[in-house]
Amino acid sequence: MNTTETVSSTQKLTLRASSLSERKFLDLKNRIIKPENYEAVKKSWKRLLEGLAEKTQEIERAGSSYIPEVSWSDIESNGYTIPKEPASLFNERGCLIIRDLIEDDMCTQWREETKQYIKHHPGITGSPHSGVASNWYIHWSKAQVEARSHPRMIQLMKAVGALYRNNNPDALLDMDSQVVYADRLRIRYPGRDVTLPLHLDSSSIERWEDDNYRDVYREIFEGRWEDWDPNLIDRRPQGTQDLYQGMSSNGSTSSVFRAFQGWLALSDAKAGEGTIRFLPDLKYALAYILLRPFFDQNGELDFSSSNFPGATPGSGQFLAHDQDLFPHLNHEKSVVGIPYVRPGDFVLWHADLLHEVDKEHKGSKESSVLYVAHTPLCPYNIETLQDSKACFNTGKKPRDFTFEYKYGPDESMFEDRGMKGNVLTQEGLQSLGLVPFNTEEDGLTPGQVAVRKLANKTIFGI
Ligand SMILES: [Fe+2]
Repeated sequence: MNTTETVSSTQKLTLRASSLSERKFLDLKNRIIKPENYEAVKKSWKRLLEGLAEKTQEIERAGSSYIPEVSWSDIESNGYTIPKEPASLFNERGCLIIRDLIEDDMCTQWREETKQYIKHHPGITGSPHSGVASNWYIHWSKAQVEARSHPRMIQLMKAVGALYRNNNPDALLDMDSQVVYADRLRIRYPGRDVTLPLHLDSSSIERWEDDNYRDVYREIFEGRWEDWDPNLIDRRPQGTQDLYQGMSSNGSTSSVFRAFQGWLALSDAKAGEGTIRFLPDLKYALAYILLRPFFDQNGELDFSSSNFPGATPGSGQFLAHDQDLFPHLNHEKSVVGIPYVRPGDFVLWHADLLHEVDKEHKGSKESSVLYVAHTPLCPYNIETLQDSKACFNTGKKPRDFTFEYKYGPDESMFEDRGMKGNVLTQEGLQSLGLVPFNTEEDGLTPGQVAVRKLANKTIFGI
């Protein structure tokens, strides 16, 4: 999902559409697992449930300390790459806290500027839609424009891009170049309840329905979940992220390909103070979510219903916290709050990681973050690059967020919004489509060169 959104009660329904679409999803379910793999998948389910139970115990014992951390200075002194130990922990657990990415003073300035921006423009709204918002419908404040293009943010995005493996040098993918996905920001005040239950970003039914997206998880559907590598990037950018183009209009879907989601802390926050919680495991949890629709309560393969629990077309993948739908996930034990974060820390998570938001904020101060995703340059994201460029130049709402017009204005009339002069780096200008990508940089793969050329041709006609 894009950021924090209240989940309506209608999303608590499992996938039940008209009889026509029921037929469609019934057929889909019967197509995904091939008869020759039935036995292997059945055995793999048994292994998976045992492994998931052990993993849950491991997470429960460790609590928040299970979430790996690394300091920005350690990344810097390691040649701007993530050191081996936190990298391998990330590859398994799907989340990482990067300490002290941005200086305190800068974060304080961004936080105060943003609060002033909201104050100067009383029309700005956010969600929840009643009372004081916590997730603000702002995309182009100076703080956001500067943070997305800050030299350290650019370096961090390059460093974490290498956490994925790319086995295909010809793949049209450039993990070193970013496309701005102009997400929003959180300023959450104490005492405000917000419901954002356990979910996956980046689509719901698409993981099963879209042929290219499903191919990312091929091994899982063949009964070999142990062989699935969540950190292999080659096949991912071809998947369609929003087959239903956000038809729920609640901002819980995203049209962009994001390798990671993340946010920069602008204030202190402890677990329980309105911050994020993870189920810090990639392989077991995701394989469980993906295989769950094919098994009945007795562990037998069952293709008789069109249900894909938690997957509602046009919405994010929710309901993982529901004991009836996902009885083995043990939400109470397997989901942990993140360790204490301070201004300037960055929290990163993998595209396939389950996460939720603290329902309550029991702290005494506001909890503020800027969302900055890792959105690499690939053919799929070039449309977003075009959209981001147009919206940056005009102050309009990006295409995934046009539903916000129901609640308030865009930023087109705000003269104090972020402008070109607030873009801090050349890479930042590139990520907004304001200058071409460099196709002659040393060390590029053939695929990087090709996708940069494609972007330059699309945006600049060169
Ligand atoms: Fe999310």
